[in-house]
Amino acid sequence: MYIAIAVFFIILCVIHFKISSKCARYEAICNGIPGPKLLPIICNFFELSFNPEGIYSRFPELIKKYGRVFRIWLGPSLHLVYLSKPEEIEIILGSTKYIHKAEMYEYFEPWLGSGLLIANGPVWFKKRKLMTSAFHFSNLNNFIPKFNTNIKLLLKKLEEPAGGESFNVYDFLTLCTLDIIVESAMNTKIYAQSEKNNRFLKAMDEAELAILKRGFSPWLHSDGFFSKSSIGKMFYESVRLMHDLADSIIKMRKMELSDKKEESSFENKNTDSILQDRYKKNITFLDMLLKYNEDGAGFSDVDLRSDVMMFIMAGHGTTTWCLSWAMYLLSKNPNIQEKMYEEVISVLGPEDRDIEINDLLELKFTERVIKETLRHYPSVPFYGRTVHENVKLPGGYVIPANTDVGILTYCLHMDPEIYENPKEFNPDNFLPEVCAARHPYAYIPFSAGPRNCIGQKFAMLQLKSILSSIIKKFRILPASDAPAPCPVTVLLFKSDTGVHIRLEKRN
Ligand code: HEM
Repeated sequence: MYIAIAVFFIILCVIHFKISSKCARYEAICNGIPGPKLLPIICNFFELSFNPEGIYSRFPELIKKYGRVFRIWLGPSLHLVYLSKPEEIEIILGSTKYIHKAEMYEYFEPWLGSGLLIANGPVWFKKRKLMTSAFHFSNLNNFIPKFNTNIKLLLKKLEEPAGGESFNVYDFLTLCTLDIIVESAMNTKIYAQSEKNNRFLKAMDEAELAILKRGFSPWLHSDGFFSKSSIGKMFYESVRLMHDLADSIIKMRKMELSDKKEESSFENKNTDSILQDRYKKNITFLDMLLKYNEDGAGFSDVDLRSDVMMFIMAGHGTTTWCLSWAMYLLSKNPNIQEKMYEEVISVLGPEDRDIEINDLLELKFTERVIKETLRHYPSVPFYGRTVHENVKLPGGYVIPANTDVGILTYCLHMDPEIYENPKEFNPDNFLPEVCAARHPYAYIPFSAGPRNCIGQKFAMLQLKSILSSIIKKFRILPASDAPAPCPVTVLLFKSDTGVHIRLEKRN
């Protein structure tokens, strides 16, 4: 017994010695980056691990205490430096050298495989180059009809709570955006808006929560522990459900395409022109990938699945939460809402009609409302890179090689040195002349530089389509007798209590 205790004590001392000397080496290179005091063995992981969902409110406290660059030792081997100053963020995001995603992104791998969002090195480079053309503005026009059909259903669904009590608008928006993104990705309808308790949506929510919990719980970092834990089991089950759906759709789509080809060669027509026609008329993200394969891209079925999953994952929650927060902010700011309504009516007219891409380009004030919403509630409140060499920051600090760097978008957007009254909802923050006077890295909801959000134009068109359609039909009023939003960061900037508002039909 005494021997066991002694051995245990010696092991703890060795671990402590190893960690301390590693920390000391890092600290020497850092040139004094401040941060919380290191505790034996556990380092700083209590700083963030107790309540991962509440991290967004913890970061401003840490900035207040240690400054706009600070470091944390999350566990014995995970050293993080957080940045929230435009000049320093630019050094990382603006460079083609620092495009390797942070360690935590590896936890997405069973779900998103080698999808663009988490890919690194040559795989990322090849995919990014190919997919840039898929997200080109000229292709995006093809998605507008998918927006229109699903928005019509959303407006119909919203008639039910309109004129009545407060309700959680997130519940409606999340189903509409899921229908849009799945249809845009794979040309398949999952009828999220028509079906109660959609399993795909539940699976996505569970997988995201599991990844966040794993990231900030060092004991779940090992694959072995994670897969045996209850949260790990929930994660793998959710991923399996989503993969099964994607696999069956990819199989079906490939068969459809090969049938088309046979048909066309039988009729002795030019296959390429038929496919071109088809792509132009009813293009989806999966179709674009299959087209790249025809041109020799060499994506396997697993690659195709990964990228389709990535498209859905990256494009669903981000747009849903942005819309929910926009409606909340508009409910609290009736003057801004009326100004937006006037613009919408002047561009779309009073009659019921489908939105076209040119309408969306004209909705300039609406765009400023959306940008200001993303300043207050950036859908992705923080994201990270790993640097593989020492990086000197303009202020003199040095980020040591092999460190994860966290970009704190939310803190940056609320910095009073950048935005005069950061808490005020003021779309004029995005007037062209105001933007021109600001540091280009002072507003980065879509990230920036070579690894910025490839879907941002798609997202903006979708957000404008949905928000302008709602405003045209309904007046948004603040909630009464309903819980106020309770912001949490579960990878995305969400509200634990939902986003409650009231709606009133316009005449
Ligand atoms: C309000 C909506 C959106 C916001 C705020 C947003 C934000 C972001 C941010 C901050 C990143 C960088 C993440 C990181 O570095 O880890 C990112 C990357 C990405 N986003 Fe978005 N996004 C939005 C919508 C979309 C949509 C609709 C799609 C797809 C249709 C999409 C696809 C992607 C992809 C593929 C990447 C990875 C790009 C790469 O690594 O090369 N996003 N997004």
